[in-house]
Amino acid sequence: MKAVVYHQYGSPDVLESTDIDTPTVRDDGVVVKVHAASVNPLDWHNLRGDPFIARLSAGFLKPKNKILGADIAGRVEAVGSNVKQFQPGDEVFGGSGVGGFAEYVCVAENNLVLKPSDSSFEEAASVPVAALTALQGLRDNGQIQPGRKVLINGAAGGVGTFAVQIAKSFETEVTGVTSTRNLAMVRKIGADHVIDYTKEDFTRNGQQYDLIADAVGNRSVSDVKRVLSPSGICVVIGFSSLALMFQVLLLGSWTSLTSSKKVGLMLANINQTDLNTMKALLESGKVTPVIDRQYTLNEVAEALRYLEKGRAQGKVVITV
Ligand SMILES: NC(=O)c1ccc[n+]([C@@H]2O[C@H](COP(=O)([O-])OP(=O)(O)OC[C@H]3O[C@@H](n4cnc5c(N)ncnc54)[C@H](OP(=O)(O)O)[C@@H]3O)[C@@H](O)[C@H]2O)c1
Repeated sequence: MKAVVYHQYGSPDVLESTDIDTPTVRDDGVVVKVHAASVNPLDWHNLRGDPFIARLSAGFLKPKNKILGADIAGRVEAVGSNVKQFQPGDEVFGGSGVGGFAEYVCVAENNLVLKPSDSSFEEAASVPVAALTALQGLRDNGQIQPGRKVLINGAAGGVGTFAVQIAKSFETEVTGVTSTRNLAMVRKIGADHVIDYTKEDFTRNGQQYDLIADAVGNRSVSDVKRVLSPSGICVVIGFSSLALMFQVLLLGSWTSLTSSKKVGLMLANINQTDLNTMKALLESGKVTPVIDRQYTLNEVAEALRYLEKGRAQGKVVITV
């Protein structure tokens, strides 16, 4: 089968398209013929081995897994002897963790669900990491409730475009923070208010929010505390520097212990329950993936170069 592999950490230049053996099916696994995959910042972190802590799971000196790609959608080709929920021919989507930038990948049964009937493979492949991060950040860490005032920092990105729509599905009042060129798109996907960060600092405009989902991670703990309502929660999803990550870990935990406000980070996990929640949100029309660009399997390096610039408008997908 065709796959995009890498043997050493580096820029997208180290990726090569090559032919390798098709994966064999594990007892608890499902071999999926990949129709579409999507790219996430974790792919370029794992490609570069940067920040260095990414290597704790990806491999210290060399990558342990040679194929990137955490989000896939496709058709079941073969099922393991213990698999109960799927059969060959089923259209599925889910989280492969690694291995998605290939024609076939073996995925644990519990990381897949049936594809929403009306969604394309590209739309379904855009969902797992970004949408489950948004869902878990808002619902589990952020304790979202109807009527609350929610701010999404980074509203135009992969996580942000899902977060805006998921927050609206909880009947909240949503403010999206983005740059000038994305204001109209963020309004279109449902934000009640938009803030152009090139013109206005959301931490100094006199507003208060019950929940901040921060997919950029470029603000200090004291900045976000200032705009949180008295029992407000800030969930930091992404980071623009390691220094800010450690600040949220230490000062954020201290804030959460010593005041009624909470500031903390989150780590998403792929599971069937939340994939099915997203499937239902897609089928109800409450969430529609925003797809920025599509690349082919031969163009994974270009897709990662584009994503790494940090200017994606929604999700970037690979059509296999
Ligand atoms: N904790 C977890 O489990 C988890 C899971 C998934 C992702 N993440 C992290 O979450 C972050 C976001 O992921 P993603 O997939 O959404 O990335 P992405 O799609 O690459 O995000 C790009 C978006 O960021 C926006 N942006 C850049 N600088 C901004 C700023 N100063 N203010 C507001 N928006 C800004 C850009 O909008 P403009 O062009 O308008 O600036 C662009 O739309 C990444 O750091 C990722 O590593 C964490």
